[in-house]
Formats: sequence, structure tokens, C-alpha cells
Amino acid sequence: MTTNMTTKTALIGHPVSHSKSPLIHGHWIAKHGLNATYEAIDLPCEDLEEGVQTLIREGYKGFNITVPHKVDIMSLCDQIDDLARIVGAVNTVTIENGKLSGTNTDVYGFTQNIRETAPDFDFTKGPALVLGAGGAARAIIQGLIAQGVPEIRLSNRTKEKALELLENASTPEKIKLLNWDARSEKSTQQDLNLLVNTTSLGMTGKTPLEIDLTHLPPAAHVNDIVYAPLMTDLLTKAKANGNPIITGIGMLLHQARPGFKLWHGIMPEVTEDLREKVLS
Ligand code: ATR
Repeated sequence: MTTNMTTKTALIGHPVSHSKSPLIHGHWIAKHGLNATYEAIDLPCEDLEEGVQTLIREGYKGFNITVPHKVDIMSLCDQIDDLARIVGAVNTVTIENGKLSGTNTDVYGFTQNIRETAPDFDFTKGPALVLGAGGAARAIIQGLIAQGVPEIRLSNRTKEKALELLENASTPEKIKLLNWDARSEKSTQQDLNLLVNTTSLGMTGKTPLEIDLTHLPPAAHVNDIVYAPLMTDLLTKAKANGNPIITGIGMLLHQARPGFKLWHGIMPEVTEDLREKVLS
């Protein structure tokens, strides 16, 4: 029996109007000719539970979660996978028989972006410096650990936040906490294999990330998760120094793929036309 049922999916957050997710999912829905929708729903914190109940009642197949609900949604899930539990945040939910299953696709997005941009990059070759200790850093550090990075140097402005991250990490012995000021020091940079900015510094409208790359080995890869602008000051500086760079747009695009696969059964591709659409 064939059905004409529309597969309804959404993004919930507050605010959501700036999000690129509807554009990304809309592109793939059209590309695969699916009878499906993906809409951005603005839900203030006090409306989260009722909003999720409405999605269940209305037969939604699943939804993405963005700021500020990525942690609070966990208590509303009937099931959370190990990855999301370790990261401490859920960004993708599938609804089946009224039950919510939560996962986190940021780890996949981060890793896949690096794999695609720098296929020969060897994560196991040396230490990684991670700037920032927020939600994005938690996913990225989990990705680095899973890829076999031998040592992670974590530099964050607020030491308490870095300590909190360390306490919840799966392999804390691999993480070394550094002062924020230590990010430019020779002892921090001289043997690095990878440097990742997970802070919002460098984003359009925010202050730039101040860092001296003098001591960074030329072979070290530099990744910024900021994608607006695509070429941040950090990446411009790294490129001028001859370091291989990895922009942030791929993480955004790749993190959306596993959710699409869960809801529609198709693993969509990150293509040049999609990349251009999202950046324009
Ligand atoms: P996300 O979930 O996107 O990671 P977040 O949890 O708000 O966002 O984390 C933002 C990160 O950017 C934090 O590491 C934050 O440092 P603090 O822990 O000290 O707040 C970092 N950040 C933001 N503005 C900064 C600034 N002006 N200087 C240094 N770090 C900054």
C-alpha cells in the first residue's frame, strides 16, 4: 500500500531565524523528490516541553535542536545514545511511536569535515590545541579522542568551564588544561598537529581571535568552526604562514546528514551547489 503522508521534520531553538538548517534540509528534500517538510520553530525555554508534545501529536518524524535547548531536551528524551551522553548534548531527535530518541551529530560533522577537506590528515600524529570549552568544544574533543589524537591541549578564557569539561570527558588523561594566555606560547604550539578554534571569536560582529602563530609548525592543520566569514582572521593568518587550513562550513553541512538519514533513509551528499547556496 502506498501512502501520501508527508514526512514532517523541524528545527527547534530560540532564536532560529538565522539558521541555515531549513535551507540545507530543504535542498536535500527537493533533490531527492521527497514528500517532506523541514521548518524552523522558535520555542522559548518555557515552551520547550509543550512544543515537543505538539510535534509528537502532529506526527513529526524528528527534529534538530539548537541553542539553547541542546541540554534541556535530554530530559525529555526516552532514549539517548552513548555519543550524545558523552558530549552532554542532543542535537537530533527521531520520533517513533511517540517516543523520542536523541543523538548528537556534531562529532560526525567535525570529523567528516576534516576527512573531506584533508583526506591525508593523520589525527594520531601529534597533539591538538583546542581553543574554547563550550558545547562545540565538547563534541570536537570527543571527535578527536575517537580519532586517536594522543594529546589535547585545551585553552579557554574561563578556567572553571574547562575544568567542568575535563570532569565529564571520557578520557580526561588525554586532556591538558592551559591558561588562555598560553595559546600563543612556544611550548603550546611547537609540536602541534592540529589547532581548532571552537570559540565564537572571529565571527562576524564579534571580536577577532587574537593568536600568534609564530611557533606553529608549518605542517600543522588549522580548523576554525566559525563559517561567517568563511575566511576568519585565524585562517587567513594560518594560510599566510603556509599551514593547511580547514574552514567551518563543512562541519555545519556534514552534521546535518545523519539526521536526514535517520528521518528519510537516505544519506544525502554535501555538494558544491549546496555549499554555495549556504554561503551566499
Ligand atoms: P558553543 O556551544 O557554540 O560552544 P558556548 O557554549 O557559549 O558556545 O561557548 C563559547 C566559547 O567561546 C567558550 O569557550 C567561551 O569562553 P568562556 O568559557 O570563557 O566563556 C568562548 N568565548 C566567547 N567569547 C570569548 C572572548 N571574548 N574571549 C575568549 N573566549 C571567548
